[in-house]
Amino acid sequence: MASEAEKAVINRFTLELGRLYQAYRMYPPGVPHVLIAAEKCSECLREYGKPIRISRMGEDVILEEEILSPVPKQLEKILEAFNAFQWDSVRFEPEMGQRGLVELMRHLKEGTPGPYHNLGFVAGTINVDSGEEGPKTGYFTLTPKVSDMMEDVMSGRKSTWVRAREITRLITSHVMGGQSLFDPIMALKDYDEYTYTHALNVAAISIAVARMMELPETLVDSIGIGALCHDVGKQNIPYEILRKPGRLDDAEREMMNRHPVDGAAILVGFHGDVPPIVPVIAFQHHLRIDGSGYPQMPVHATPHPAPMLVAVADTFDAVRTVRPYQPSAYTPAGGMSILVKEARANRLHPVFVSILARLSGTLTPGRHVKLSDGTEAVILTEGEFDSLQPLVEVVGGGEIMDLSMPKTPDIASVEDTIDE
Ligand SMILES: [Fe+2]
Ligand SMILES: [Fe+2]
Repeated sequence: MASEAEKAVINRFTLELGRLYQAYRMYPPGVPHVLIAAEKCSECLREYGKPIRISRMGEDVILEEEILSPVPKQLEKILEAFNAFQWDSVRFEPEMGQRGLVELMRHLKEGTPGPYHNLGFVAGTINVDSGEEGPKTGYFTLTPKVSDMMEDVMSGRKSTWVRAREITRLITSHVMGGQSLFDPIMALKDYDEYTYTHALNVAAISIAVARMMELPETLVDSIGIGALCHDVGKQNIPYEILRKPGRLDDAEREMMNRHPVDGAAILVGFHGDVPPIVPVIAFQHHLRIDGSGYPQMPVHATPHPAPMLVAVADTFDAVRTVRPYQPSAYTPAGGMSILVKEARANRLHPVFVSILARLSGTLTPGRHVKLSDGTEAVILTEGEFDSLQPLVEVVGGGEIMDLSMPKTPDIASVEDTIDE
């Protein structure tokens, strides 16, 4: 979260940016008005010391973390120019100096996008409508079925732009000149749309969980990137096996189980600024806390927490989606039942499952649950410290139990029924 002082700087930056564009449109580029306005902008960028992002989601203009409401009048023209390039997200680097800003103004005014490699500026598009190829402006065109993703992720209760914005932000902050970390992700998209959409969902869920834990922003980003890339090794699996509806035979299973190793190898091969946790996430996301899963390790060592977080998101998205070998998807409650079962068996990390249960709103008051001793109960109040341990009332008997107390049963499954 930005502090009040930081918010003041970014607000000043946007106003100065709007003024700069107005000045550029009115005067020839070299006049003092333009140069002074550009210098004021670059001063704000230096003072802020981190990139500043302006994104657009539907009607909303989002400055870093917050919706700009109302949108300042000075910004209208430059936003129109961004729109003309179909940029949904733009990012200004701290080192984008006066020269870079003036150069960008020139592109905006002339209607000729990029390249901006050396200017300290990145922009891109999200095509929200379909999987069709979108317009190619800026540096990347992200064409996920974002709308599908939004429906799929959790139970759709949270405002949708937050997640799309997070993903855009990740992409804008890591697609920087030269070799892009997202090449392998785009390769995955060409190869198999489902795997690609799944990667976006898993990233969105992982980021949401990491945020809820109030992890440092850079770590949240790294986990998000790791989640986006967790299945990149799947591009080596023959398509017939990847989409096979029936059971895999031993040879096919072996090939399928190679994807964490292959994925890690692809990611380690990157020389850019790939956070070190990213290949670790790809390598360990099918390992389980109890030592099961794959790739098989010579000695059981507890997996790193970051891949364990991604594993929870991965499992949740996998069971919530229709796939060739899974003709119907689970409801959020059904999906949560599976996670709860896995957590009780010490395969998935119970803390991450608990956070996801809270985020997805699957264990809120009124929800029917089945307990590990076979009783049926209704949640009365959400678990204060652990959403898997709420206060419940036994159906029929009226007995009230605080599941956070010792010697009480666990939640064994979550029912679809809710008492309003
Ligand atoms: Fe996987
Ligand atoms: Fe996966």
